Amino acid sequence: MKYGYFDDTAREYVITRPDTPYPWINYLGCEDFYGLFSNTSGGYAFYRDARMLRLTRYRYNNVPTDGGGRYFYLRDGGDIWTPSWMPMKSELDRYECRHGMGYSMISSAKNGLAYQQTSFVPMGDTCEIHKLVLTNESDAAKDIDIFSFVEFCLWNANDDMTNFQRNFSIGEVEVEGSRIYHKTEYRERRNHYAVWAVNTTVAGFDTDRQTFLGLYNGFDHPETVFAGSANNSIASGWAPVGSHHIKAKLAPGESKEYVFVLGYCENPDGQKWESLGVINKAPANALLEKYATSEAVDKALENLQAYWSGLLGKFTVEAEDKAMARMAGVWNQYQCMVTFNMSRSASYFESGIGRGMGFRDSNQDLLGFVHLVPERARARILDIAATQFPDGSAYHQYQPLTKRGNNEVGSGFNDDPLWLILGVAAYIKETGDYGILDEMVPFDNNEELADTLFVHLQRSFNHPLEKTGPHGLPLIGRADWNDCLNLNCFSATPGESFQTTANFESGVAESVLIAAIFAFVGPDYAEICRRTGRKEEADRADKAIAGMIETVKKHGWDGDWFLRAYDAYGKKIGSHECEDGKIFIESNGFAVMAGIGLDDGRAKKALDAVKEHLDTPYGIVLQQPAYKEYHLELGEISSYPPGYKENAGIFCHNNPWVTIAETMLGRGDRAFDTYRKICPTYREDDSLLRRTEPYVYAQMVAGKDAVRHGEAKNSWLTGTAAWTFVSISQYILGIRPAYDGLVVDPCVPSDMKSFVVTRHFRGADYRISVDNSAGVEKGIKSITLDGKPLSGQVLPVLGDGRVHEVVVVMGR
Ligand code: GLC
Ligand code: GLC
Repeated sequence: MKYGYFDDTAREYVITRPDTPYPWINYLGCEDFYGLFSNTSGGYAFYRDARMLRLTRYRYNNVPTDGGGRYFYLRDGGDIWTPSWMPMKSELDRYECRHGMGYSMISSAKNGLAYQQTSFVPMGDTCEIHKLVLTNESDAAKDIDIFSFVEFCLWNANDDMTNFQRNFSIGEVEVEGSRIYHKTEYRERRNHYAVWAVNTTVAGFDTDRQTFLGLYNGFDHPETVFAGSANNSIASGWAPVGSHHIKAKLAPGESKEYVFVLGYCENPDGQKWESLGVINKAPANALLEKYATSEAVDKALENLQAYWSGLLGKFTVEAEDKAMARMAGVWNQYQCMVTFNMSRSASYFESGIGRGMGFRDSNQDLLGFVHLVPERARARILDIAATQFPDGSAYHQYQPLTKRGNNEVGSGFNDDPLWLILGVAAYIKETGDYGILDEMVPFDNNEELADTLFVHLQRSFNHPLEKTGPHGLPLIGRADWNDCLNLNCFSATPGESFQTTANFESGVAESVLIAAIFAFVGPDYAEICRRTGRKEEADRADKAIAGMIETVKKHGWDGDWFLRAYDAYGKKIGSHECEDGKIFIESNGFAVMAGIGLDDGRAKKALDAVKEHLDTPYGIVLQQPAYKEYHLELGEISSYPPGYKENAGIFCHNNPWVTIAETMLGRGDRAFDTYRKICPTYREDDSLLRRTEPYVYAQMVAGKDAVRHGEAKNSWLTGTAAWTFVSISQYILGIRPAYDGLVVDPCVPSDMKSFVVTRHFRGADYRISVDNSAGVEKGIKSITLDGKPLSGQVLPVLGDGRVHEVVVVMGR
């Protein structure tokens, strides 16, 4: 069942009925101010940090779902409705929600009154704009009442949900005409407030939730709206809200427009007050003046759209397969921007209070983002690297506001250091900027311990070499990429964190995956050394990598596939000898990606085993058989019911590793099959089962052991976004940034007869037309660049600001 369609020209997903199988959201904002925005106007706004500076309140896991948003109530005579459907679940004559690049539009109609809401965060400003257009489509004049509604969060979202003994007494607001200011805690240590304003005169307002709603009412039955007039309530403690009451007369055919702004404003210390207890409104005045008219707002929306056209112009795809083209060319890249911005903090599955920026996650997010805004990727790399410890290990997470490592989660995930090499290498290949290696970067956030970024990479490279176990494989530490393989944890206490507990460190639990990651990223380290005149170090690195590959072949091979790990007793994990968890996806995908076993048939064997044991119609599950019971020696992985999350769920993040690995074998049909299965655009018709948005990847799809096999969860914030973009753009379509230029090396399904990619790369644009009328999976017959034959498969760096025509003919 379908709930909408893709409008490819507008780059929008159009939702045609409001009761989607789960709220289908969008992200407003791509700089400092963000809004999560569902197809029924639910969600919330925050400035920079979803935990510490949340502007509006949201109720996770609420009934009904999606509790809280920017709501507008309309009243036409005796009829009252919410044109965004929720929260009243109003019956509407028309409904449509368009989610676009950084903006959303809800249009609906009832009683001959058309409604259009355009919501976005303008570039360069810290506010959400909601522009309303009301049109009288009937032939009688209408007297309309409009009531706006937002509920303020008392800034710290965690405290807001828990510390009621204090919170119920601290709420404060100010109202000036049609501007409602939320200033809780401004009297003491905060220097910021929120404003909720509309560009017209109001008939009244409310700022006290109980007065507006009625104590025993939900958002679906606000007493004030039913009574038909506002109370001009001033919140004092309890729950401050912002509601405007606007009266509008509309002649037949007439339209009226209103601009609502939800803004975040800061004052420098010393300039906080206008007079005793009265906040300095200068920043709010400036902001609201900027967006005082519809014209100004329309212009700001055009700016935003132009910004996105520019970004998405850097990599475009034309192909017969629309589901692939729209995903790779538009939505996947859009999601990569969101994961880059949010890491794993705020979505409809991540509460915005739990997780900071992950060292591992953010490095991987870079892979899908670096071509969009390389300068921001550069800054991010330096932030991440500053949380590394002098021995190469790293804080697992850092807080976005302070940029300091997060003590609560600590360190010891032994895969972490390696992802930094991957991120930096991707950045250098994209930009050619080796200068980043000379940047001085603190260790452990301590300037006194600063050294060059290159030294950080060196410590990253050395870390797994210095921490090896009895088989010479890297020790796993708390866990590797699989956060739930907690081999030194042995937790028997309910509720204890698997991520921070460690009480059984026998010093032997080893990870084949870390060895494979090392073999995959190590060559980039060696290459960077070579290209920066560090030949000896490059040679040392090559030797260490070759040694690690030998170790994997010797102690990381199970006969038909790669092992996953050795536990704290030295017992195998991911072996045919195991009762459950005989075969895992991660080590197999990564080892082949690293090229291990390409020379001796093991790579092919491993991927065939993955297909045989782990593949399903919805993607590849993480391992099989699922753990049927809790294993003290394995930790969280066995805490999940079979088929969910790391216990044999389809953990989409690692599927593209197999996709890429298949391209190493030249198996384009198989590579594309793994790509397609987890790609949401192919499952649009299957939304009832899948449930989450058809335009973004989800972290997990329930595996074959689960009751709801095929159902997705944790949409948006997942490393799947970056890795699938890498797999489709660099390995299937095969346009891959490299140190000396743009490699052209497609590995496609044999029935993909042609496609065109345009790629912006180091100051020039390459328009690459690929002809596969030969129907091969891999192999190039000829390439011409601007009409001239090119020898080899690397398009040189041209950097001349021009468009260059590249024609690629595939064949044997
Ligand atoms: C989550 C984490 C990621 C981890 C994965 C597998 O997605 O954010 O860091 O690798 O789970 O456990
Ligand atoms: C849990 C999840 C895993 C995630 C981790 C992050 O272990 O299962 O996916 O990476 O939490 O803390």
